[in-house]
Amino acid sequence: MTHCPGLVIVDYGSQYTLLIARKLREMNVFTEIVPASDQSFPDSIEVHGVILSGGPASVGESAHKLPQYVVDSQLPLLGVCFGMQLIAEHFGGKVEASSKSQYGRAQLKLTEVNSKKSTDLFFGLDAESTVWMSHGDSVVQVPADFEAVGYADQTIAAMTHKTKAIFGLQFHPEVQHTKQGEDLLRNFVAISECPQMWDGKGMLEEACECVLQDAKAGRVLLALSGGVDSTVAAMVVKKCLPRDQYEMVLIDHGMMRKNEVADIRQSFAQLGLPVTVLNREELFLSRLKGVSDPETKRKIIGKAFIDCFEEFTQQHGPFSLLCQGTLYPDVIESAGTHGLAKTIKSHHNVGGLPERLKLQLLEPFRLLFKDEVRLVGRQLEIPQALVGRHPFPGPGLAVRIPGEVTKEKIGYLQEADAIFIGALRESGYYDQTWQALVVLLPVKSVGVMGDQRTYAYTCVLRAVCSTDGMTANVTDLPLSFLTQVSDKIVNQVSGINRVLFDITSKPPATIEWE
Ligand code: XMP
Repeated sequence: MTHCPGLVIVDYGSQYTLLIARKLREMNVFTEIVPASDQSFPDSIEVHGVILSGGPASVGESAHKLPQYVVDSQLPLLGVCFGMQLIAEHFGGKVEASSKSQYGRAQLKLTEVNSKKSTDLFFGLDAESTVWMSHGDSVVQVPADFEAVGYADQTIAAMTHKTKAIFGLQFHPEVQHTKQGEDLLRNFVAISECPQMWDGKGMLEEACECVLQDAKAGRVLLALSGGVDSTVAAMVVKKCLPRDQYEMVLIDHGMMRKNEVADIRQSFAQLGLPVTVLNREELFLSRLKGVSDPETKRKIIGKAFIDCFEEFTQQHGPFSLLCQGTLYPDVIESAGTHGLAKTIKSHHNVGGLPERLKLQLLEPFRLLFKDEVRLVGRQLEIPQALVGRHPFPGPGLAVRIPGEVTKEKIGYLQEADAIFIGALRESGYYDQTWQALVVLLPVKSVGVMGDQRTYAYTCVLRAVCSTDGMTANVTDLPLSFLTQVSDKIVNQVSGINRVLFDITSKPPATIEWE
């Protein structure tokens, strides 16, 4: 895609940087994310405007300044959160650490005059609307050539240059909870006069190109989990490479859903994917024995996966590449696009590979979101029953059993999960839910069944709506449905006598419990 017209996003390490790109892609706008350390625009894009992302640093302490090449370009500029603070600092405004951080929903109040002109970022917006804040510092005085045009809880939430197309937003327009965020981004696209000609169908071609290009290095080992992403990646590999250039393996770590391995085998056979299943339950469970810390558990699982790949390589290698269905949220929540974002969880599939394996990572969907991968899957004619499956994490049920993982707990969780997912499917709520799961708490409580006292575990039902897993809201399931599921679990799963429903959104919680 040489010299495609589009927008550049300078990445300061926000959890949401790619969300900006994704929202713009949905508007058929081509975007390119560049690291904050770059000194010029990339050659691949005809730049119509620039967005500065948010970031975890404080302007005062950060080495980052508004890049001179961006200032010199005189292109329309939009700073988000940290990006707005950089603009304020550069033009002589004042940024200070707020006495109280603002996280979550806030009410944006616009000053009337600024939403009237079509050249204004706020054109057509309501005078008051809900926005999503996530910041510690704020602009306390806008630069002389700017005016404050929006406030939230007495904080300056929006500013514009008096004569130029330079804007700052203290809140995140890219996050779903910002009600009119898309309108703001659309207005910026219009102000930038950026053509909206990017075609989502290119995603499959780009994934194929990525596989063909990287596979020149040698044979590919493909790790399948049975989830949507790795299945679609496998189909891309199968489409692009001759059979002797790849092997596919599914490691059964013993922490899959009930009957899942058998179901996966059947689906893969239907798709014609030649997969070897390695049962290594004992290895994983023995290494997890006595371990409770979430990050340690994830690291142990990541390492055990690597050891299994190594074992498989000895039998079927040599391989030069390990192909995985890693998605952008996995990348950003593990390490950040350019190493600036904070680690939330170490998603095992992005963990470093040891030198001795001499394997490079091949991740054709590294910059895509789940629903974009589903689109690619549909283009490859993968059945809806497979592409429509809820996401399932690589470490499996281990991240749904806070505390030590044991075979007994896995058994209880598999049963409860099968009841919940089965009920969601029967009622039609499954397809209205982005992801549903059950968590088994390390908490026992007293109950009564028949005339008997029980003392058993507590489980938590979680069902969320999301478009990408970066943010999520609770699915509004009726109480009558939840109580039916609860009754069924308590009656049929001997180790569980109490059922809770998790009503927390992400953020502040995450979707999985670990
Ligand atoms: P969290 O819990 O971070 O999850 O809000 C966001 C999405 O990512 C999935 N997830 C993972 N997927 N490997 C994966 O392939 C992992 O280690 C992993 N951890 C979380 C999670 O199920 C949700 O869809």
